[in-house]
Amino acid sequence: MKKPVLALFASLLVFSCENVDRSMYEKVEAVPPPSGSVPALGTKIKIDYSQVDLKKLASPFPLDAKAGERGAGLYGVYCAPCHGITGNSDTKIAQKMDLPPPGLATDRVRKELSDAEIFVKILASDSLMPKYRAELEDNEAWEIVAHVRLLGQSRK
Ligand code: HEC
Repeated sequence: MKKPVLALFASLLVFSCENVDRSMYEKVEAVPPPSGSVPALGTKIKIDYSQVDLKKLASPFPLDAKAGERGAGLYGVYCAPCHGITGNSDTKIAQKMDLPPPGLATDRVRKELSDAEIFVKILASDSLMPKYRAELEDNEAWEIVAHVRLLGQSRK
């Protein structure tokens, strides 16, 4: 086959593929989400917990060891990079921060900070510590509080 003919075939092939592709996309309709789906991040209206009365704020479930174990994975993702897996805040990131993250297995956290205060700190921190309002559901934040309580028990 001569070169010009080949070129013609090639361009025809590309052209028709493009057309096939385009009509494929045109036929795709938006699929409604299955019932009970939860909207993705950022679309849910969240309470501004920094304005809430801490005395009225309580976990809907007991903050016991079971809840603490459920919160371990989330703690590992969201807190351990700064506060350490054991809560001793001796991490590489912590060492580089101007305001070093305090330890979480301390008497201060154990005795002076209420569950609600830690909950609000997680969701609505107003300091160098990030706030996780957009990333975490309330129940997840309570589970992390329960996990912080477990860390507190590990060093009495
Ligand atoms: C980027 C590093 C960083 C991450 C990640 C982080 N923190 Fe912090 N955290 C800090 C810093 C810095 C402070 C000290 C300033 C302050 O109190 O806001 C702090 C303070 C705290 C305090 C107050 C301690 C006290 O003695 O007053 C608690 C409780 C706490 N963090 C819990 C958590 C939990 C739980 C998570 C995970 C959801 C978390 N932090 C994630 C940096 C971090």
